[in-house]
Amino acid sequence: MSTPDTVLENIGREPGRITADEAACLLGADDAGFMERLREAAYRVKERHVGRTVYLRGLIEVSNACRCDCHYCGLRRGNRKLTRYCMTAEEIVAAAEWAWRAGYGSVVLQAGERRDEIFTAFIERTVGQIKAVSGGALGVTLSLGEQDRATYARWFRAGAHRYLLRIETTNEKLFRAIHPDDVDFRERRRCLGVLREAGYQVGTGVMVGLPGQTVEDLANDVCFFREADVDMLGLGPYIPYGGTPLADKAGDYTAGQRLRLALRMIAVCRLLMPDINMASTTALDALDPHGRELGLLAGANILMPNVTPERYRRDYQLYPGKPGIFAGPEAVRDQLVSRIEAIGETVGFDRWGDSPHAAARKERAVGYG
Ligand code: 5AD
Repeated sequence: MSTPDTVLENIGREPGRITADEAACLLGADDAGFMERLREAAYRVKERHVGRTVYLRGLIEVSNACRCDCHYCGLRRGNRKLTRYCMTAEEIVAAAEWAWRAGYGSVVLQAGERRDEIFTAFIERTVGQIKAVSGGALGVTLSLGEQDRATYARWFRAGAHRYLLRIETTNEKLFRAIHPDDVDFRERRRCLGVLREAGYQVGTGVMVGLPGQTVEDLANDVCFFREADVDMLGLGPYIPYGGTPLADKAGDYTAGQRLRLALRMIAVCRLLMPDINMASTTALDALDPHGRELGLLAGANILMPNVTPERYRRDYQLYPGKPGIFAGPEAVRDQLVSRIEAIGETVGFDRWGDSPHAAARKERAVGYG
C-alpha cells in the first residue's frame, strides 16, 4: 500500500511518472506536514522548469451576457439580478492599452458565451485593434467558451494566440449534474482539440471541491490534462454562489478543505507537468486573503490582474467574494507587485511569458495528442 510520502519519493526518482491511484493518494492527504513536503517538491520543479518569474495577464471582462445556465455560475442566464453589459470596442482597447503600458505583456478577453455573428465579428475586430494599438506587442488570450471551428479560426487570424476553455470536471456524470442539458461534455472536449488544430496554445482547468467530486475524479482530471497535452491550466476552488442551483446542494468540503485541495491539485499538476503555465486564480483569494501567493508557492506561475473598468466589475461576479471589485487598475497592479515580491518572486514585465511547454511543442511540430 503506498503512502503519500512514498508516492512523493517515487516522483522524485522518476519525475512526471504517476498513476491515477497515486495522484489520488497525494490529493487525499489533507495533513499539514505532508502538504508542506508536497508544496516544496512542486516548488522545486517549478523553479527548475519555469523559474520564479510571474507573468501577468490583464483580465478584461468584456461582457456578462451568457447563453448558458450552468448550475454553479453567477453569470448564468437565469440570474435576473445582474445588469447585463457589453463593453464597447473603445473601452476594451483602452483597458488593453492600459495593461500594455503597465507592462503586463498580455491580456485575456473573457466573457459569457455568445455565438452570434455580431459578437464573433465584434471580437474579431477588437482583437485586431488591440494588436494594432500595441504594434503587435501585446499577447491576446481568449476565454469565450465553446465556438465552432470557423469562429476559432477567425479569432486566431485576428491575432489571438492562446485560448482558455475549462473542462470543469472530467467526470461525465458530475459534468452532467452541474450543467444544463445543452452544455455537453463531449462537445467541450472536442472544442479543446479544435482549438489546438486552429493553432492556439490551449488551456483548460477544473473547479476543485464540487459537491459530489472525489479525489479520484481530480486524479482523473490530472491524467486528462496530461493526455490532452495542455499548455496552460487554471485551477481554482469551487465557491458556492447563493441563489444558484448548485449552492443549494449539500457540499462535501468545507471552505478550508476546498482551498487546501485546490493547492494540492496545483502542486500535483506542477509535479506532473513541469513546463506548463499555471494560473494562481482569484478564486483562491476568495477563500484566503493570501490565496494567490499560496498558489504561486504551490507551483503556479501566472496571475491575471483585473483591468476591467470599475463600473462593470460588480456585474461580473462568477462567485461571491471575488476580490478587488472596488480597486482601480493602478491599485491592483501595485498591490500585486508587492505581494509577488514579498514571496521572493519577480514579475516578468513586458513579456508574453508563453509556457516552455508550448515552445517545445512548436519545435517538435507534432500534432494534438
Ligand atoms: N466557483 C468557482 N469557480 C467558478 N467558475 C464559475 N463559477 C464558479 C464558482 N461558483 C469558474 C468556471 C469557469 C470560470 C470562468 O470560472 O470554472 O470556467
